[in-house]
Amino acid sequence: MEHGRHNYSLLWVGLVILTVGALPSSFSQTTRRFKFNVEWKKVTRLCHAKQLLTVNGQYPGPTIIVDEGDNVEIKVTNKIAGNTTIHWHGVRQYRTGWADGPAYVTQCPIRGGQSYTYKFSVINQRGTLLWHAHYGWQRLSVHGAFIIKPRNPFPFSAPIQAEIPIIFGEWWNVDVDAMENDIVLYGGGPSGSDAFTINGLPGPLFPCSTKDTFIQTVEPGKTYLLRIINAALNQELFFAIANHTLTVVEADAVYTKPYTTSAIMIAPGQTTNVLITADQNPNPTNMFPMATRAYLTSIFPSDKNTTVGYLRYKNTKTTKKSNPTTLSYNVENLPLMNDNTFATTFSDSLRSLASAQYPCNVPQKIDKQVVTTISLNLQDCPPGKTCQGYEGKNFLASMNNQSFVRPYMSILESYYKNLTKKVFSKGFPTKPPNAFDYTGVNSLTENMNTGFGTKVLVLPFGTNLEIVFQDTAFLNLENHPIHVHGHNFFIVGAGFGNFDPVRHPKKYNLIDPPERNTVAVPQGGWAAIRLKADNPGVWFIHCHIEVHTTWGLATAFIVQNGPSPNQSIFPPPKDLPTC
Ligand code: C2O
Repeated sequence: MEHGRHNYSLLWVGLVILTVGALPSSFSQTTRRFKFNVEWKKVTRLCHAKQLLTVNGQYPGPTIIVDEGDNVEIKVTNKIAGNTTIHWHGVRQYRTGWADGPAYVTQCPIRGGQSYTYKFSVINQRGTLLWHAHYGWQRLSVHGAFIIKPRNPFPFSAPIQAEIPIIFGEWWNVDVDAMENDIVLYGGGPSGSDAFTINGLPGPLFPCSTKDTFIQTVEPGKTYLLRIINAALNQELFFAIANHTLTVVEADAVYTKPYTTSAIMIAPGQTTNVLITADQNPNPTNMFPMATRAYLTSIFPSDKNTTVGYLRYKNTKTTKKSNPTTLSYNVENLPLMNDNTFATTFSDSLRSLASAQYPCNVPQKIDKQVVTTISLNLQDCPPGKTCQGYEGKNFLASMNNQSFVRPYMSILESYYKNLTKKVFSKGFPTKPPNAFDYTGVNSLTENMNTGFGTKVLVLPFGTNLEIVFQDTAFLNLENHPIHVHGHNFFIVGAGFGNFDPVRHPKKYNLIDPPERNTVAVPQGGWAAIRLKADNPGVWFIHCHIEVHTTWGLATAFIVQNGPSPNQSIFPPPKDLPTC
């Protein structure tokens, strides 16, 4: 059995050649080096040409493949006039918080014309992750797969014919940076994208787009590992393949108990590895459609289109190539956009492998509990300002009624250097300032104003932390994919309605809960996570729906250095950008 980039099936060869700029330029045992140039590139989709921000001119960006245990060095050069940063989503960054990437949290942005080399190791983790820009809405097109090849064989026995990255994204005909600016200035909301994309391709259901269709050739009878990534800005997605079942074996780069399902739900920032076997009798075209579309819980305008790609069964008997325009688009097993039941059942069915080799180290006792609301807000418009949100107000978002204010310099740097002019304050509230019927309030009569600040939580090294994320009915009950930087966590419980501190913890799964870096908190519900805060540094927590982060649905926590020398954050690198 052979794994690796040399083993991606033929259709990927083109991409692999294109990624040459991102292949390791050094083959030394332990350090893998890559070069990322952040640059504009003219890209055309849906009959619409536009300048897209890319890494090395590629859309989606280059796939990074490293081995578990490697040191990684990625030199990012900013070739544009504006700022940028890159985040390695889900990489734990143990003691290397300087390389994590969120702008103004762990670093000042890389300014136009400058470079910064992200240096870190990938230890004790393996699987599919993603990298993406962490400045404004740049991750729309500045994203790619980050694959850590395991040291040991996969814990499932099926021989894998090939590994296939499947990256979902959004294509917008409009300029999203301008939209983001307007949202910040006038407090309005976003429109939806024009198409979802599979590996950058919108598929045959859109104008000028049949040529931009993702087609994956498979050999009958063989099993493939799909490394699925949701890199969309603002949308949870469903995905299915006609006539084929998907067996989930990994989520957010942690092995799961195999779970066979007709479809998956994947939120922005999440990754899911699934096995598929080409076990169907090929139809006359040899083509089986795969499709992705929104899992909709938002009241804001959304993209309601379905994006289609294909599995093509290799057939030695027919040589005739099928024309995608004559093919079926129908993926009957794709859930409807409002299928909450499917989304919930799917999330609730994932379990850690919890084997001797891959144990589930969920904290059994906690030292600290934080209960936080995750809310959208409708803020009164300040006098003299024009607001474009509902009823002439300002859309915002918050955690425990704190709308996160992005500071003007890096929180990590300010903390590490103990700068007197603090850009943050301690004391993020550990419970909602006022208890209320979070999921039951009438959002038409409720005061939905929020406070503002850059308040963080400070934790001694090794704290066993529990965070309960509580959705609220402000504006709308919505699913929120909450991402924690620097740590994986265990989803020990989740449910609808309000979290009950007496009843619900009794039902926690402390044996084999899923271990992830991004939790899709149920629409109109709550989720409880546990983690051991053993990575010294400053770590962002935020909703991975980009517009929610823009509105302030974020906070951060500081993990203090531990007592022993190898429990301290490393000193900042020499080339760390300055503000
Ligand atoms: Cu993938 Cu802070 O993000």
